[in-house]
Amino acid sequence: MDEREVWVPHPEHGYIQGKVVDVGSHTLTVEPNDGSKAISASYDRIFPCEDDISKDYDDNCALMYLNEGNLLNNLKVRFAKDVFYTYVANILIAINPCKSVPHVYNNDVMKSYRGKSLGVMPPHVFALADKTYRDMRTQNQSQSIIVSGESGAGKTETTKYIIRYLTALSGSSAGASEIETRLVESNPFLESFGNAKTTRNNNSSRFGKFMEIHFCKKGGVSGGFVSHYLLEKSRIVSQSGEERNYHAFYRLTRAPESWRKKFDLQGPENYRYLKGSSLDDTLKDAEEFQHLLNSMDRVGLSDQAKDDVFRVVAGVLHLGNICFDPKEGTRGGSLVTEETMHELNIAAKLFHLEPDALIEAMTTRVMMTKGGGVKGTVIGVPLKPEQAGNGRDALAKAIYSNLFDHIVRLVNECFPFTESSNYIGVLDIAGFEYFKHNSFEQFCINYCNEKLQQFFNDRIIKQEQALYEAEGLGVKFVEYVDNQDCIDLVEANKTGILALLDEECRLPSANVEHFTNAVHTTHKDHFRLSSPRRSKLAFYKGMRDTEGFVVRHYAGAVCYETGHFLEKNNNTLHDNLEMLMQQSEDEFVMKLFPMKKLASETKKGGKKLIFDSLGAKFKTQLSSLLVKLGETGASFIRCLKTNFKIEPGVFNGGQVLSQLQCAGMVTVLGMMQGGFPSRTGFQALYDMYKDFLPSKLASLDPRIFCQALFQALGLDVNDFKFGMTKVFFRPGKFAEFDQIIKSDPDNLKVLVSRVSGWLNGKRWRKAQWGVLSCIKLSRKIQYRLEKHIILQSVARGFITRRRNLPRVKGFSKFQLLQQQLGKIKDLLDKLDKYRKDQEGKFLDLQGRIDGMISKMRAQPVTQKEIDAQYHDLSSAVDNVANELMTLIQKEAEEAERERLQKIQEELERERKRKEEEERKRRQEEEERKERERMLREMEERRKREEEEARQREEAERKRQKEEEERNRAEAARRAAEEAKRLAAEEQERRDRELAERLAQDSAKPQDVLVKDSEPAQEVSRIARTTLPSASEAPAQADKKLPDLSKWKYEKLKEVISSGSADVELLAACRDEFHRRLKVYHAWKVKNKKKGANVDNKPDAISAPKGFSSSKPQTMPAEQRPQRFFRVPFIRPEDRKTSPCQKGWWFAHFDGSWVARQMELHPERPPVLYIAGKHDLKMCELSLEETGLARKKGAEILCDHFDELWKKHNGPQYATT
Ligand SMILES: Nc1ncnc2c1ncn2[C@@H]1O[C@H](COP(=O)(O)OP(=O)(O)OP(=O)(O)O)[C@@H](O)[C@H]1O
Ligand SMILES: [Mg+2]
Repeated sequence: MDEREVWVPHPEHGYIQGKVVDVGSHTLTVEPNDGSKAISASYDRIFPCEDDISKDYDDNCALMYLNEGNLLNNLKVRFAKDVFYTYVANILIAINPCKSVPHVYNNDVMKSYRGKSLGVMPPHVFALADKTYRDMRTQNQSQSIIVSGESGAGKTETTKYIIRYLTALSGSSAGASEIETRLVESNPFLESFGNAKTTRNNNSSRFGKFMEIHFCKKGGVSGGFVSHYLLEKSRIVSQSGEERNYHAFYRLTRAPESWRKKFDLQGPENYRYLKGSSLDDTLKDAEEFQHLLNSMDRVGLSDQAKDDVFRVVAGVLHLGNICFDPKEGTRGGSLVTEETMHELNIAAKLFHLEPDALIEAMTTRVMMTKGGGVKGTVIGVPLKPEQAGNGRDALAKAIYSNLFDHIVRLVNECFPFTESSNYIGVLDIAGFEYFKHNSFEQFCINYCNEKLQQFFNDRIIKQEQALYEAEGLGVKFVEYVDNQDCIDLVEANKTGILALLDEECRLPSANVEHFTNAVHTTHKDHFRLSSPRRSKLAFYKGMRDTEGFVVRHYAGAVCYETGHFLEKNNNTLHDNLEMLMQQSEDEFVMKLFPMKKLASETKKGGKKLIFDSLGAKFKTQLSSLLVKLGETGASFIRCLKTNFKIEPGVFNGGQVLSQLQCAGMVTVLGMMQGGFPSRTGFQALYDMYKDFLPSKLASLDPRIFCQALFQALGLDVNDFKFGMTKVFFRPGKFAEFDQIIKSDPDNLKVLVSRVSGWLNGKRWRKAQWGVLSCIKLSRKIQYRLEKHIILQSVARGFITRRRNLPRVKGFSKFQLLQQQLGKIKDLLDKLDKYRKDQEGKFLDLQGRIDGMISKMRAQPVTQKEIDAQYHDLSSAVDNVANELMTLIQKEAEEAERERLQKIQEELERERKRKEEEERKRRQEEEERKERERMLREMEERRKREEEEARQREEAERKRQKEEEERNRAEAARRAAEEAKRLAAEEQERRDRELAERLAQDSAKPQDVLVKDSEPAQEVSRIARTTLPSASEAPAQADKKLPDLSKWKYEKLKEVISSGSADVELLAACRDEFHRRLKVYHAWKVKNKKKGANVDNKPDAISAPKGFSSSKPQTMPAEQRPQRFFRVPFIRPEDRKTSPCQKGWWFAHFDGSWVARQMELHPERPPVLYIAGKHDLKMCELSLEETGLARKKGAEILCDHFDELWKKHNGPQYATT
């Protein structure tokens, strides 16, 4: 099969290398190179390997195939070489070395990272710390570094290195050096009281912290501030066998005699709060006590302050040893046992309390009366031994947690700051956590991680993309799963799990089952919440819905047991215990319990209890932390541990992969391949390099300066992009750029001359452009001048015409009248007898017309007057003319009659001629009409036919459109279902992987894990609904056909090549075979090499939109059409050459599928493929899908194909 090496998922190693041996319906089968059993996995879980998997990269973005298989391998290869840091663009992956590696962190190494851009030096936590410091200075903005990872992954160690680097880097002024020492030295002090040994880490931080290092304007450290979150309180009174209580207890009980004597202390085995834990001294508590004292000294604690702190720690231990017995003769009362009275007295002494008051407060509970006696009277209700024990533990927890708050206050007081220009905050908080039993602590931690993951997405993905868009870089978008719904599930007002929990705690008869039920009913159909019965782990199957719930976090599903949720959420101590501590005669103890509203003080008539909720407090703390983070520039460090036991040299790929997935590294990798992770403003870039360049260049405007620099360096335009305000670099390219700039002086000289050349060229082009623009402008002015003259003349003409037109027209009318007068004069001349009489009229007329003409000449006359005068005069002219005519007629009657006679004859002739003409004309007209009628008929017929054809086309178009719309809707539905399926599968996969990891912790993983038949069926059900299998169609038509989707690829091939007699089966096999090829080719395209083209067919043949197969080819071989095609193609690498080298792609289709395929290229050896042998390399599309049959000139004759096939020694092909 395919020779390429691929990564296939493996439960232990994460991914292992192998080769594809079977192409299934929804899966690929891979044979591992180590010879172990073949593994089947879905297409989206198999990835191509790098060409050389032994090579490693500083930045994972430099990988050829950016996928999680190669990401994991890169980390593994580097870990084997003792290289613990790697980048994914600007995110640092820090692998826990699990051993001491001082050479990685010594002072020389620290110095070597100073002032270097990210990527110049090998990846390191110092590089990121340096970048953060420089960003703070150049951008004048506070920064934060979010260090995350599982317990034991190395967050706290990493945080310490960051603080060490920052304090060393900032170059202190004389007074500040003390502050820097205190910043570093405060850690052992804090850790002694807030860290403990767990199964996952011997020095596990049981609280979260955000450490701010403040800097003054000059960049020196001016102080610090620590905020802490969620100290784990349950640990103070009980721990599981292999774990321990807080270090401070063991260190004090193993302290030198003098200290122990002071507080009446013995070895740890004598105290109930320590007895249950592992007591081995591998942690060297005695030695550590000395370190703790030193740390306290350096932080600036006085001897009295130290005594106070240790006195309270000892007091907690003695308090824990007090036991209670039932009080005889009373109902429900209890008393302190004889044997433990001694411990009680010591505890009372250490806390400066009256022993009796301590007994009283622990064995009774103060309550206000509601009815019965006087309303509001305080009464003491005796407590049972068990209740008294609970009160004692609650008191111990409250004392220790208040002491821890005080310690953080002390630490903060030791590095106060008066001036702060900006700060760098380092967040070290527990990563996503899951155990076999998960309670309220894990719930809060995972809620916190959901919020941090959202912040990460927001910064790295959403804001990155928004920035690209705002800067107009035109980079494509990446999909990611938004976890807002999960955050809402936890923190929404009224309906969130925390709100429901608080609501329950406030009820007088609070009940955990009621709370758990409320969670299930409120979020019945919530995607993120389900019942324990649906968990993938067998041990949750028996759990009832009233006992817990499962939350599907972004990193996987976690089952929470709600048993202790109510008490753990309740941060309130009984009134009498609180009052007791406030009454202590010791000022220090009193200060630990400042006055506040007591729990039973009532509000509005005393119905609702005042309730101090831990969940609500954490929610508020978290939101203010996120606001803070939001205001800073953020950097991220993802810590990873290579094995659960933190053993050196052991790399458990499965565990590392799961951590990578939880940290969202795979999504980031996808985004970064198309992204520009390094960027800097023009001014910043200018400031950075101006000192390296001569003043001639340094005096340029920053933007021009950057353009000149990039041009001169001749950087590949694909490696950077100029945005609106910044220049962006591809992963790793900023470092390259930086190196070129800072390289040797000779190179700099060349660079400067090139920049000068570029600038001269640019200025010359600018001058040329200026001259050309002037010429163009002067021509434009000339042109417009000419046009203005034309415009003016037209306008003037228009105005004059409008004013004088009536006069002009009138003038010509009266001139006509004058002409008529001339004719009248002629008539007059013909008269003889009546001439004298008529001459007077004529002269009168002439005078009036001349008068009117002169009037019009002299002044403007209205149209109305002209018309009236004209009307009068013309009728007068007509009258005179008529009169004259009558007279002339009279005088020449005889002559006239004769003349008329002649005229009549003439007219008669004329009439006849005209009639004759008219007859002929009519005849011709009729003939013409007849011709036109026939033409019209023909035209109508043609139009009718055309209309019919148009209607037919219209109907066809409409039908096609409807079909297209149907197909589109169907495709959209399938895409939506596919997306839903992928999301479900992705969550399913994470849930399962998490479950598998948890199962691996167990002695018998196979018993712990639920058999996967259910989800597998589910996935395949979804897959079936979204990706129709070819086997379905025949299966519906003929129920006897087997389910081919389960058949092996080789078996399908065998049936096809053997040519089974069962035509239906053969057709179904061919169809399923080609369908799988399509899925496989789609996988290849999805996983292609950066910038590579894996297509085995020319561009002319486009891929189908989906994988829906065409109709099964049920025809027997001899009846199947054999068709041959030829299309030209140009290889992608040849596109750049000029002229392009063109090749020919030939295909022989046996029915619907390619049987033989041939690529002929003038510069290369011919490539010949034949079905059954090279299927994975051949075109997987059906003839219909290629569109070749519709391509003009593509089809060729069989002889043409065969001739070439034989010429290039193509093997024989037999139809089956
Ligand atoms: N950079 C490092 N060099 C050497 N050892 C390291 C380094 N990082 C971690 N370790 C080892 O791993 C152990 C666990 O590391 P660390 O306490 O920092 O984990 P963590 O992530 O803070 O865990 P938790 O969440 O439990 O507090 C350390 O005690 C140390 O032994
Ligand atoms: Mg830690």
